[in-house]
Amino acid sequence: MISGRWAWWISWPVATVFLCLLGPIRLYDATGIPLTLQSFGVVLVPLLFGSRIGLAAVCTYLALGGMGLPVFALGTSGWERFFGATGGFLMAFPLAAGCVGLAAEALLVVRPDAPYRMTRMLLAATLLAAAGQTLAAALGILWFNSISGTSDATAWIHLLPGLGLKSVAAGACVAVVDRFSARTGIATGLVLLFGSSSPLSAQTPQNPTMEFKRVSDHHSFARPNEAVVTHLSWSAEVSFATHTLAATAVWTVDAAPGAQEVVFDVRELAIASVSVDGAPVAFSVGEAAPFIGSPLRIPVSPGRHSVHIRYTTSPDAAALLWVDGDRPFLFSQSQAILARTWIPCQDSPGVRFTYDAEVVVPPHVLALMSAENPTVRNPAGRYTFRMEQAIPSYLLALAVGDVEFRPLGPRTGVYAPPELLEASAYEFADLEQLVEAAEGLYGPYAWGRYDLLMLPAAFPFGGMENPRLTFCTPTILAGDRSLVSLVAHELAHSWSGNLVTNATWDDFWLNEGFTVYFEYRIMEAVYGQDLSEMLVALTRQGLVEEIEGMSVDRPADTHLKLHLTGRDPDDGMNAIAYDKGYFLLRHIEQVVGRPAFDAFLRNYFVRHAFTSMDTERFVAYLHTELLNTPELAAQADVAAWIYAPGLPESCPRVMSPRITAVDQTVVSFASGQLSASQLPWDAWTYQERYRFLTTLPESMPASHLEELDTAWNITGVGNNEVLFAWLKRAIAFTYSPAYPRLERFLMEVGRRKFIVPLYDELVESGQLELARTFYLKARPGYHSVATGTLDPKLNMP
Ligand code: BES
Ligand code: ZN
Repeated sequence: MISGRWAWWISWPVATVFLCLLGPIRLYDATGIPLTLQSFGVVLVPLLFGSRIGLAAVCTYLALGGMGLPVFALGTSGWERFFGATGGFLMAFPLAAGCVGLAAEALLVVRPDAPYRMTRMLLAATLLAAAGQTLAAALGILWFNSISGTSDATAWIHLLPGLGLKSVAAGACVAVVDRFSARTGIATGLVLLFGSSSPLSAQTPQNPTMEFKRVSDHHSFARPNEAVVTHLSWSAEVSFATHTLAATAVWTVDAAPGAQEVVFDVRELAIASVSVDGAPVAFSVGEAAPFIGSPLRIPVSPGRHSVHIRYTTSPDAAALLWVDGDRPFLFSQSQAILARTWIPCQDSPGVRFTYDAEVVVPPHVLALMSAENPTVRNPAGRYTFRMEQAIPSYLLALAVGDVEFRPLGPRTGVYAPPELLEASAYEFADLEQLVEAAEGLYGPYAWGRYDLLMLPAAFPFGGMENPRLTFCTPTILAGDRSLVSLVAHELAHSWSGNLVTNATWDDFWLNEGFTVYFEYRIMEAVYGQDLSEMLVALTRQGLVEEIEGMSVDRPADTHLKLHLTGRDPDDGMNAIAYDKGYFLLRHIEQVVGRPAFDAFLRNYFVRHAFTSMDTERFVAYLHTELLNTPELAAQADVAAWIYAPGLPESCPRVMSPRITAVDQTVVSFASGQLSASQLPWDAWTYQERYRFLTTLPESMPASHLEELDTAWNITGVGNNEVLFAWLKRAIAFTYSPAYPRLERFLMEVGRRKFIVPLYDELVESGQLELARTFYLKARPGYHSVATGTLDPKLNMP
């Protein structure tokens, strides 16, 4: 028989190997770290710290580890995340058993005559450490709940049985050791018990990271299950003269056993050379398909590689918009599948990576990315960036231009062209408060800083949730803070979308529906229910209209779960994902009650942080965690929302007294009972004005518009949402005094949500030639996302 001492040294690796085998099956900790990795800790840490000082260090670590979940959720640096993720409910226990065991062994080596009482004391210390750690975890949960404002029952449910199980196991071991002194076997047993008894890991295999098989994404050629990227080092030189980026992308690639190549997505990139681990390789670029681009295939063997790709972008790169003139500006828009037009990447939202970058620009402009950013200019025009949290490719972003920074709060600020800086700082004065409100709802903000960037008006969207730096249209600078809900929306994406990401563009509603829900909750928390319910009422109106419009020609597009194979994911960017998605979540909230729904959402974000989610897995998770009785499931009937067309009967009704009052005013005004000057226009919020203008009946006399304009100078209004609604009605009634304003708006603004309906209205009201005249003039200033939608409508190039 092997003697005691050597038996210890053999039993540890054996136990570890066993745990390693257990790990990949289905055990993950709360943050998605597979047990396999933690198991290495069982051998490594005791080897490093098999001393009394080590034991003290480990005890401190255990206490910190108890804070695991909250520290993870709060932490942004690598170390915080390491402690949080590995110190959670799981690793501390095998670690404790390991350290205590080794300490016991060390003691017996130093004092072979030490009575087993010592061993027993050490094992009792394990029990104490477990209790201490559980206490620390409990404090952590209390703290987590106090900052998030509610009681999170699920965390307790996971904690308490864990404590019970582990205490019983430790107690039993103490007793057995005392009786038989069979240290080797018992120690092995301890490791196995402590290492595998966590109810949290056993119940939640939803945190797939390394062994996760990604769902296939038909908008990407990449095959990440065979070879996947984990990190990008990007360097680029920006040329405003040629409208190109000359760049090198160095990708860290992990190739699975059997893999022969790594496949990237590219579109209109000129690839100059590719090397793998320093050696040039023969690569191939497949035939280009419309909007998807081509596969770039690079031979690799199994294992980890460094893949260098040197390339140049095309002046027509669809993601990039170059604004010329004395104030040159460049910005990117990668979502949904345009990142591949400026960086060769695995352009699928199910693939995440960290990145660093070095960008060289002309001397008098600032470069910014979706990363840690500079706040001042660098005379040499050389900027470096780091994004430590893993993101999907559609969140890669770059902006270069004459902008300055103004802080708004301890971790919030705004970048804007100098002449807009003051107005931006005023408009977004509540930014820090919005972040705090969001944290209060669904847990700590995970990305460090939250800044805004005011882009040129040609930006095709209202906002884009690039991590750490939301890109914004300047059309939300209304002067009265009335359009901050857009910022609430992009901020909300820091959880829904950026932390938990739609696995494919068919699951887009998981990004946007959740975000609209979260946006309105933030608005409610900061500005009150009166205001947020007005937003909801407008949303319902828009949704019902849009569903009516789609139900005839393309009813399948009104399902939440889409099937966009062979189509541009842009086709899914409509009120279905956003607003039908919103109303499904609001409906579930009504079925289970707000406290239960909030606790569910907070957990959802923590447990799935930095991973992707598809509709089917979400539905399964929803049913195990929340709709877990047949009655609740039947009442919610989520399948009717997700897999069927139209708006289910169960769609919540909205009660907004102020919007109802506007509807009555519309009736009085249209029928002539109320004159334009009698309207409470000045007292109305933008939401009330918007409702008024969008619900004026088509049958109303055209002279009403002139009266409105004379009374309230609506053509000169500063709020762009109201102006848009007004211009649309002006087109429908051919109210020509508004046309010069219309023309100016179409020349200056490139936001698709505004310009597409305006051109549509011109075409539908028989003014196609005028529409084409405007478009020909404005088109060079629009982003490809806008021209891609408008060209076919206006029969252009
Ligand atoms: N992520 C979207 C913008 C987007 C979606 C770009 C799909 C490309 C493809 C962004 O968060 C968004 O929804 N923007 C809206 C804001 C609004 C809903 C408040 C916009 O731009 O209008
Ligand atoms: Zn959004």
